[in-house]
Amino acid sequence: MQAKPRVLVARAVFPEVIARLSQHLEVYANQTDEVWSKAMLTQRLAGMQGVFTTGGDSIDQQVLAACPALKICANMAVGYNNFDLAAMTAAGVLATNAPDVLTETTADFGFALLMATARRITESEHYLRAGLWTKWSYDLFAGADIHGATLGILGMGRIGQGIARRGAHGFGMQVIYHNRSQLAPEVEAELRACYVSKAELLKRADHLVLVLPYSAASHHAIGAPELALMKPSATLINLARGGIVDDAALAQALQIKTIAAAGLDVFEGEPALHPNLLKIPNVVLTPHIASASIPTRLAMANLAADNLLAFFTGKAPLTPLNPEVLQGAGQSAAAPD
Ligand code: DGY
Repeated sequence: MQAKPRVLVARAVFPEVIARLSQHLEVYANQTDEVWSKAMLTQRLAGMQGVFTTGGDSIDQQVLAACPALKICANMAVGYNNFDLAAMTAAGVLATNAPDVLTETTADFGFALLMATARRITESEHYLRAGLWTKWSYDLFAGADIHGATLGILGMGRIGQGIARRGAHGFGMQVIYHNRSQLAPEVEAELRACYVSKAELLKRADHLVLVLPYSAASHHAIGAPELALMKPSATLINLARGGIVDDAALAQALQIKTIAAAGLDVFEGEPALHPNLLKIPNVVLTPHIASASIPTRLAMANLAADNLLAFFTGKAPLTPLNPEVLQGAGQSAAAPD
């Protein structure tokens, strides 16, 4: 009997997903959820043909060089800035991610974070819990309105579009966006969204939501000069990736009220945070949970598992990032949905 392909699951995931993988693969699962350094991950990847990663597990040239048996890396995340895709393609290693299944859940969370930030929900709750509430006051935690306001979106992929739809159709917001490419007119019409330059977006948005992918080009896309263009009453929401915002500059802008408030689900160097962010009341901080509903996290894990299972059973992986690797190996990719 042929030996089953060996696959490493780098972080703890749903036991039912491990069970599905184990039917066809020899699985080495980190179910204790120990966070491995790159050196530890590399060591455990020795002799593995596949790896199930989450967004914090870095696969780069060094890891690839040390693990020549590796054929596929399946990321349980839509973002894949933890992968050096060019190096993977050059090494003939297939990369897959987990798009689509998290779009609506993440857009829901974007709105939750926007509302919590603009309406000062967490700040007021902390005040109440601290026993500081003694009387009703006309301006007690008075914040910004969401309905009818101008919603700016930087990055108009699937999640950006989900946020635009909620803003335009649910809250009667005026939606403006900036993206690498403008959407087709019929999509803009359905979303009631208007394409503007980045500078106009920054100047006009009452609430600005960041949902662009992280890359060298988007590093510090929002820094001190960009924050200075925003309205003093504006709210900034980062759902995308740490590093897109210069967190030191943002903490400073929040302290001196260049902008009114921020809601952050992702941070430069997370899980560490810029220490000043913890000292500021006008920022809502959440630990990278935008996609964290139970059904969606299960769907993401299952999609990563489906990619591994398809690859090792000779079928087309569902969401390949570098399908040219498959063509080189005489396999085909499933049509993207
Ligand atoms: C993603 O899928 O990229 C989310 O940030 C979860 O890690």
